[in-house]
Amino acid sequence: MSVRAIVLAAGRGTRMKSPLPKVVHEAAGRPLVAWVLDAVAGLDPAETVVVVGYGADRVREVLPPGAAVAEQTEQLGTGHAVMVALDQMGPVSGDTVVVVPGDSPLFRASTLAALLEGHRGADATLLTARVPDPAGYGRVLRDGDRVIGIVEEGDADPHQRAIDEIAVSTYAFDGDALVGALGEIGRDNRQGEYYLTDAIGIIAAGGTVHAVAAAEPEEVLGVNSHDQLAAAAAVLRRRINLGWMQAGVWMQDPERTYVDAGVHLAPGARIFADTHLVGDTSVEEGAEVGPGVYAADTRIRAGARMWYSVSRGADIGPGAQVGPYASLREGTVLLERSKAGTFVETKKTTVGKGSKVPHLSYMGDATIGEDTNIGAGTITCNYDGHRKHQTVIGDRVFIGSDTMLVAPLSIGDDAVTGAGSTITKDVEPGALAVERSTQKQLPGYAARRARKSRHEDGE
Ligand code: UD1
Ligand code: CA
Repeated sequence: MSVRAIVLAAGRGTRMKSPLPKVVHEAAGRPLVAWVLDAVAGLDPAETVVVVGYGADRVREVLPPGAAVAEQTEQLGTGHAVMVALDQMGPVSGDTVVVVPGDSPLFRASTLAALLEGHRGADATLLTARVPDPAGYGRVLRDGDRVIGIVEEGDADPHQRAIDEIAVSTYAFDGDALVGALGEIGRDNRQGEYYLTDAIGIIAAGGTVHAVAAAEPEEVLGVNSHDQLAAAAAVLRRRINLGWMQAGVWMQDPERTYVDAGVHLAPGARIFADTHLVGDTSVEEGAEVGPGVYAADTRIRAGARMWYSVSRGADIGPGAQVGPYASLREGTVLLERSKAGTFVETKKTTVGKGSKVPHLSYMGDATIGEDTNIGAGTITCNYDGHRKHQTVIGDRVFIGSDTMLVAPLSIGDDAVTGAGSTITKDVEPGALAVERSTQKQLPGYAARRARKSRHEDGE
């Protein structure tokens, strides 16, 4: 016997009122369907087929490479979706078929494993939950302890609607029982669809149906609308943050800390409130991040300090300092103990060990050596309107405040530039480069001007 998995992801998600197919919406940095596939992978199935339909191409884009898909061109219901998947899979006789909805990102692999465990000796097993508000879900019908079917909200009578035990589109089926039941399903119901839920009633009539309750009721939360998406994301956020805190990360306020799946935090990392860690980001031991940080695809190394800043595609070296109000763009490399300070923007720039860009600067397409200081207001003029050019600055350089560095340009080791200079030619090592007109002095100017204006006023 092997396990074959079907993930239902062909529906549009009308209640999302979104142009995107429902299952590609993200929670904690991953599409809903990716969370589901992760939980399913925990069962180590022999085969997994994702049923796509509405927005099939968009859904395919977010599936792991090589994922098997079956296309349900017309969304005729969950039962029909399973038929489409089975057509693609070939015979499932003797196997266990697990069906999971693509819009329920909170299922844990352990819960799906418990479903399989509970399925022993049954023809079909459904995952259930008791919830305070069952509205919108299929209700589990029982005769005594025995499950005898599922009724959809729209088809339920008031008595059935009062049932608080719900079905959550998650099942384990004996392959033969499933194929048999699907052959009998009709679409004579409120939505005119082939309901997978009907397979349970059909199987229960001649066989054994088990029910397994989800470990935590919140796990079964499906996403049908944007408010449910936010609620699911909040649960994932709590789980992710709890996991990192248990692994030795300090968080000032986990409710206001947004760590995507795929981010890595080392024990001893310190995360302050209002921090967003996105994509392929990592924070090493002793680094302090936040408050007020958005870091995407960024490496924040041991002992670095970053606050009230944004970074995308940067590598922040050990002991480096960032912010407040810095914007590090792709290709920024801050080496050991360097600094990108207040109102500093960097792009494709390396700041060498111990070098500082403390205030109000733009460094683009630049390489800065070690122990160099870039004065406040300095800018690399890297773009001539057509192309980008490089600026190379050596070690122990002192760039005076408000220097315009017109690239391509190279400044030698130990060189100095005078404040306010526009530097257009290479500067040799150890030289002072100044470019500004000689300052004029007009003594007594203020008094003369005052006399002149009194005269004009006719005094
Ligand atoms: C379904 C169940 C209901 C359960 C609820 C929550 C049925 C008839 N109803 O209702 O008992 O309480 O989920 O788990 O099964 N899908 C397809 N093809 C289709 C239709 C749907 O792939 O033709 C997919 C959707 O993309 C979605 C999943 O199946 O991932 C469930 O569909 P949805 O429309 O959300 O069903 P509900 O009305 O929530
Ligand atoms: Ca649903």
